[in-house]
Amino acid sequence: MDITHRLLVIVGSVREGRFGPTVADWFTARAEAHGAFTVEVADLAGVTLPLELPAVSPKYAGDAYPRPAGMAPLTAALERADAFVIVTPEYNHSYPAALKAAIDWHFTHWTAKPVAFVSYGGAAGGRHAVLHLENVLTELHAVTIRDGLAFPAYYTNWRDGSPLDPQAGEYATALLDQLAWWAAALRTARAATPYPGS
Ligand SMILES: Cc1cc2nc3c(=O)[nH]c(=O)nc-3n(C[C@H](O)[C@H](O)[C@H](O)COP(=O)(O)O)c2cc1C
Repeated sequence: MDITHRLLVIVGSVREGRFGPTVADWFTARAEAHGAFTVEVADLAGVTLPLELPAVSPKYAGDAYPRPAGMAPLTAALERADAFVIVTPEYNHSYPAALKAAIDWHFTHWTAKPVAFVSYGGAAGGRHAVLHLENVLTELHAVTIRDGLAFPAYYTNWRDGSPLDPQAGEYATALLDQLAWWAAALRTARAATPYPGS
């Protein structure tokens, strides 16, 4: 029986010269090695993400919500995922605008699915961004995972594509263990009973 869960790793930074893909590549390799997941990556830098939203609400439009063609691969990946990891930097004590747009263009795609966070930045390691994401994703009926990975001062604490902290791999495993547990529990629950909310 296939017991792997479909994990979508979302790269939230689209900035020119961004560090995000370094963090995402390192984490994705750990997720692939973990064993509980088949892993896909959605890099928002390759997604059409207008800031102007349609007049109609995604809550009521359902599949008819008029998304741009360049968003379709992201929408399909969000739909088939059983779990998410968002890789985010911290911009002005929050998360990047592209990530907010990606969230706002979707609706039911997050419902009753677990989301974990890998963040990086200055002194706080992106934790302010994660606090905001937890708040927003709870509104969308996602389940946020307690154990995250936060990389403070990434500019001195990473070398050759890896964090210098020798415990980073263990923290990644703890996050992935919790994410797999929730992915299994929520997948079973979604299949058994329609989620009573939207
Ligand atoms: C607009 C902007 C605001 C930023 N604000 C913060 C901040 O509040 N806290 C922080 O730790 N780093 C902040 N930074 C520094 C980022 O953590 C750093 O630039 C990081 O490389 C951003 O990730 P990226 O390279 O993947 O875009 C900011 C960077 C930008 C571009």
